[in-house]
Amino acid sequence: MCGIVGIVGKPNATEIIIKGLEKLEYRGYDSAGLFVANDTTSSLVKAQGRIKNLSDKLTPEVSGTIGIGHTRWATHGQPSEENAHPHTSQSQRLVLVHNGVIENFEELKSTYLAADTFIGETDTEIAVHVVEAFMNQGLDTKAAFKKALSVIRGSYAFGLIDKEDTETIYVAKNKSPLLVGLGDGFNVICSDAMAMLEQTNRFVELVDGEMVIVTADAIAIEDQEGHAIERESYEAQLDLTDIEKGTYPYYMLKEIDEQPAVMRRIIQNYANQEGEIQLDADLLNAMKDRDRIYIIGCGTSSHAGWVGKKIIETLTNIPVEIHLSSEFGYNMPLLSEKPFFIFLSQSGETADSRQVLVKINELNYPSLTITNVAGSTLSREATYTLLLHAGPEIAVASTKAYTAQIAVLAVLAKALGQQKGLAQAADFAFVHELGLVATAMESIINEKDLISELVAEYLTETRNAFYIGRGVDYYVSMEAALKLKEISYIQAEGFAAGELKHGTIALIEEGTPVLGIITDEVTGAHTRGNLKEVESRGAKTLVLASADLAKPTDQIVLPTVHPLLSALLTVVPTQLVAYFATLQRGYDVDKPRNLAKSVTVE
Ligand code: M6R
Repeated sequence: MCGIVGIVGKPNATEIIIKGLEKLEYRGYDSAGLFVANDTTSSLVKAQGRIKNLSDKLTPEVSGTIGIGHTRWATHGQPSEENAHPHTSQSQRLVLVHNGVIENFEELKSTYLAADTFIGETDTEIAVHVVEAFMNQGLDTKAAFKKALSVIRGSYAFGLIDKEDTETIYVAKNKSPLLVGLGDGFNVICSDAMAMLEQTNRFVELVDGEMVIVTADAIAIEDQEGHAIERESYEAQLDLTDIEKGTYPYYMLKEIDEQPAVMRRIIQNYANQEGEIQLDADLLNAMKDRDRIYIIGCGTSSHAGWVGKKIIETLTNIPVEIHLSSEFGYNMPLLSEKPFFIFLSQSGETADSRQVLVKINELNYPSLTITNVAGSTLSREATYTLLLHAGPEIAVASTKAYTAQIAVLAVLAKALGQQKGLAQAADFAFVHELGLVATAMESIINEKDLISELVAEYLTETRNAFYIGRGVDYYVSMEAALKLKEISYIQAEGFAAGELKHGTIALIEEGTPVLGIITDEVTGAHTRGNLKEVESRGAKTLVLASADLAKPTDQIVLPTVHPLLSALLTVVPTQLVAYFATLQRGYDVDKPRNLAKSVTVE
């Protein structure tokens, strides 16, 4: 999704902005641009496509001590140079970058900008014109910006520069992430701390509705009424090496390989030396008498929620419902009397999930966000937070966040079940079992050659593919199919194995790949039956089975682990299947078309 960086107070603003934009590339974008200035000159450069295209257009004259840059993921108007940010006001005096969506842009245009002309078709261009319209009424830049904020509806993170004052960046946010970073003799702005880590690791969070005046030596935060706000900075717990690929060809492969280490880090962060889980007592007390848990998430996070449902229900006896954020917010089901909400989000910034949390907070229900990003919007706005400790996930295709989400949900379920005095929770030797999973993951990760060969045999030519399973194996099938389709563009679906014969089996043709996941004795026998049904209609079947249930003809055999944690293992070969299928088709594994890492628009 869109990314923002900016700096004031360093002579090499252009270079810093380009480096910052490169760090945001992983989020997905289709054009980029920057504005830099100093006392005497200013430059605005934009390009469609990759940041490399923007860098190629830079000349030595494009330099300055202040600047803002942007990566754009199109919402209003096609990906093009005209629609790329920064955008300028009617007189060209003001320059603006924006993340988010302005809902009332048409109304703003007809109310304030009837005589204006526009270069592109974006809502952002309207916003910067509105600021200038208020300046034309006699307001100074700050007052005009503030007045514009009062009439703009929607989500935004703004960075604004007035060419006549090249020492100030005006900043504001509502629902879209934005941070101010503190330097020595300079300050920065960014939508993600990672973008500016090379400059500083001290950041100040901004709250919705605030406006900030950023100069080289100071930042001044104001609330909507104009009151000055004092806020402590925090140190970002990020390491630059976490966001480098190292010797890996793609982040996705690095992140798949990191999963055993992530499992062990989760144990270190949530268990003491004796292997007992240590969780916030307030959180457990808030959850223990709840009559229903609602897990809210999107995409891979939602799939992790399905596996979590099984673990939580088994260990705590509390019923769990899984809901897609984009559906739940506008189509809320009848809630139980004492609901508790869990928001699953790797980024902690997903707009679909955030709009649900806003509604849940209005209803005064308690909530927990499980996220990879400390200080993210969903983390700040929920009652409680648990962190994934997975390290930054850069590849658009989520891998280690999925397994970390399941492991942290299991931590929670184990602690909550014990808090409720339930024998099944006390008997579940979670820390030991998760340690076994980590070791078993390593053995699968070492089978890359086998998986690459199977992909060449099964998936090189195909147009579509199916994953099938039952129970937890079905939940993993949904995730496996999402992974395959989102990066290799093979049309893939994950089905409950028993459902195939109720319609979908009509799609099976000679050679259609069907991948069956089998980790449960009873349901596994049925899934084998379903695999026979599709085989007899021409399908080419591939079986991923746990060692205790495997047959000599099964192609991928996985170590047997505790049944509540089997998804942590079965998903790994499916991640590798997606990776190799994409590689073999020659696509960019880390940056699939049309997708963004962090989806900050609804
Ligand atoms: O950051 P989130 O976990 O809230 O993101 C939710 C989905 O957009 C995300 O899981 C998406 O489905 C993945 N990129 C798929 O690999």
